[in-house]
Amino acid sequence: MNIVVLGAQFGDEGKGKIVDLMTPKFSWVARYQGGHNAGHTVYVSGKKFVLHLIPSGILHDGVMCVIGNGVVVDPKALFKEIDELAGLGIDVGDRLLISDKAHLILPYHRELDVLSEARRGERKIGTTSRGIGPAYEDKIGRRGIRVCDLVDTKALADEVRANVDARNQIIKDSTLDWTQVYDELLASGARMRRWTGDVSLALDQAMRTGQRVLIEGAQGAMLDIDHGTYPFVTSSNATIGGACTGLGIPPKAIQGVLGVAKAYLTRVGEGPFPTELCGEIGERLRETGMEYGASTGRPRRCGWYDAVAVRYAVRVNGIDSIALTKLDVLDDLKTIDICTGYRIGDRTVTEFPSDLNTCGPITPSYESWPGWTTPTKGATSYSQLPAEARRYIARLEEVSGVPVGLISTGSDRHETIIRDDSVVARWLN
Ligand code: GDP
Ligand code: IMO
Ligand code: MG
Repeated sequence: MNIVVLGAQFGDEGKGKIVDLMTPKFSWVARYQGGHNAGHTVYVSGKKFVLHLIPSGILHDGVMCVIGNGVVVDPKALFKEIDELAGLGIDVGDRLLISDKAHLILPYHRELDVLSEARRGERKIGTTSRGIGPAYEDKIGRRGIRVCDLVDTKALADEVRANVDARNQIIKDSTLDWTQVYDELLASGARMRRWTGDVSLALDQAMRTGQRVLIEGAQGAMLDIDHGTYPFVTSSNATIGGACTGLGIPPKAIQGVLGVAKAYLTRVGEGPFPTELCGEIGERLRETGMEYGASTGRPRRCGWYDAVAVRYAVRVNGIDSIALTKLDVLDDLKTIDICTGYRIGDRTVTEFPSDLNTCGPITPSYESWPGWTTPTKGATSYSQLPAEARRYIARLEEVSGVPVGLISTGSDRHETIIRDDSVVARWLN
């Protein structure tokens, strides 16, 4: 049974923790999109690991970790991550397989990302400045460079020279030398070679022999290039379709979809956020939840759970069950609100609008629920939760249109509740 774990909100839902805790039941863990804009945090017995490009399954011995063709790979970021993991006692060894069709983030993509943001001025996206957008632009524009292209050939030289020339025309007074970029790429290719191969073929062979694959999304549904709050999105398909195109696997290979959602909501970067709390409660959520970006350290914007958005993520992705994270962050609140609809002008909207960015002022319609004001931190069974917390979860299930099969009550692996009768329990059996 192969399961996809993906973000049902604006990213940073806690996917890394969930993937890590599920990994022991799988032989492979595979990333299908995004790049090192992702920051997936995993705590193991108090020790912190932040994964950016390498799947969050890497902390478990014997598990194969895959970077699919849909991911954009910055070789420097990859090597840094591999070296940092080694420093923390995790040897990647031969447990990494990078698709030979994955596109590369080149040294100047980062610069173009920053430049593009500066040009947008007040309309900036608030990107992670990792060069993600420009790398995907080159891919779609059919001038990208793939992992399998990193051999000393005339074709690579021609492509690099043309790309660097084009870039030098965009960036004023730039004199970047294409041969320098070319030499760096060859060196990266040489170091990467031991890990590269045909991901689609390897996964197909693994699945045929009954090995299970856990598929790890980055970002979240509302940051998806097609289905998110465009243009305030990332440049890839974080939603379910990306899993097939980004790994070269058919839809039938996927048996379940677990959507990860926080018990409230956060967003980092610009863009619409109807339930954002700019006052004291927002501040409290940020401090209690330690809501600072795992990649960039930026403070995350915080707000109430938006059931309109999660319901949409459930529909677009075919989510079977929600992993509800950070319940413990709400422990101190006397009342907790849930957004069940939006008021836009004189309309009441319950389906996530395509034009959220331009539709004018949005007033969320809220239900207020009593808080539990008792610690849930570290709870490992559903019955341990206070009645008000159970009622809150039951209401989230109703308004989100999907059961909550897993509840996370802290950042450590073990601070987790898996509900007995849930599909998640069945997947992990
Ligand atoms: P990801 O990008 O979806 O993997 O999420 P991030 O790692 O960027 O952000 C989630 C943060 O919340 C990380 O610092 C996690 O360690 C932390 N976290 C995950 N689950 C819980 C939880 O249930 N409670 C608390 N307090 N923290 C959690
Ligand atoms: P994980 O996998 C939260 C956001 C950026 C910005 C927008 C575009 O940790 O959940 P990009 O650099 O991708 O072009 O930025 O997307 N963003 C994320 N927000 N979590 C992430 O990843 C994100 N990756 C990108 O802040 O608003
Ligand atoms: Mg993150």
